[in-house]
Amino acid sequence: MASQVNTINKIAASSSRLNRREILKLSGLLAAILALPVEYGTHLAKALVSAGRVPVVWLEFQGCTGDSESFLRASPYPDPLQPGVTDLGIVDLLLDAISVEYHETLMAPSGANSEKSLSDAIANYYGQYVLVVEGSIPQGNNGVYCVIGGRTAVSRLQEVAPSALATIAVGACAVDGGLSAAAPNLTGAVGVKDVLPGLTNYLALPGCPANVVNLVASIVYLKTFGQLPDRDSAGKPYFAYSHEIHENCERKPFYEQEKFVRTWGDSGHRQGWCLKEMGCKGPDTHNNCPIVKWNAQTNWPVGAGHPCVGCAEPHFWDNMTPFYAGDD
Ligand code: SF4
Ligand code: F3S
Repeated sequence: MASQVNTINKIAASSSRLNRREILKLSGLLAAILALPVEYGTHLAKALVSAGRVPVVWLEFQGCTGDSESFLRASPYPDPLQPGVTDLGIVDLLLDAISVEYHETLMAPSGANSEKSLSDAIANYYGQYVLVVEGSIPQGNNGVYCVIGGRTAVSRLQEVAPSALATIAVGACAVDGGLSAAAPNLTGAVGVKDVLPGLTNYLALPGCPANVVNLVASIVYLKTFGQLPDRDSAGKPYFAYSHEIHENCERKPFYEQEKFVRTWGDSGHRQGWCLKEMGCKGPDTHNNCPIVKWNAQTNWPVGAGHPCVGCAEPHFWDNMTPFYAGDD
């Protein structure tokens, strides 16, 4: 640990943007999120202060913009070295690690200028940009249900993905079609890999929405190690999706004591008992929500008293419904 701190001191001395304390905090935070051994903090620290940010091209197709909303709510995060202190966070990582070159919802250009922004981003960062895809891709009726700049979502994805360094599908819709692919799937909505099955540098961050913490951690990992985090056959990174919600749920002691909420607002609900009898899908859902939480680690669905609806599982709108049980 001492040699790691010395190394980080040297790294901080070479940085004009971040001081030693900030580098220690951010590298510690990232190592914890990525479930990396503590010594990897040095590598992450080097990447944080290294020149150049990762260019990101963000395409939004058939979705509700929830993942962009999650992205915009990247907020200060609790200090891993000082519990209770929240003054530095994912937003700092966002600003230091990535540069959003194209994002239809957020950028200033519109019309023809917007199309030029996209072609410029592809030309200027050919083979170097990370493509983030939000929303499903409708294939029905030759893709007419989602057309941007006169081109279908299918053709835009086919144009932008091949020259990306990596492609990240954020949210259930981009991963497997999500809500719009739920029966009867009138638009023929699918996910990124259904359109481009041969895509190799592909990462899937399912969820409704995906957590920005996992997106930023994945991009910083890519910047640090030159490759995407280890992932399963569906492209989901192990650091975020290898454990059941139920495994890390703070209500699990009540589950084991068979203390279940039976009615919304009953005394068990008020005391934080288990939500299984109200329809909780935590035992069948894999995500790191109980650990990284949401809104600067303020809370998460089950912590707030709502059952997990299984939003990180494949085709959850069909496979996890009905979401509620009990006296709903
Ligand atoms: Fe498991 Fe859900 Fe009960 Fe938590 S509330 S212990 S995730 S069943
Ligand atoms: Fe989704 Fe369940 Fe987390 S509903 S946000 S996986 S708690």
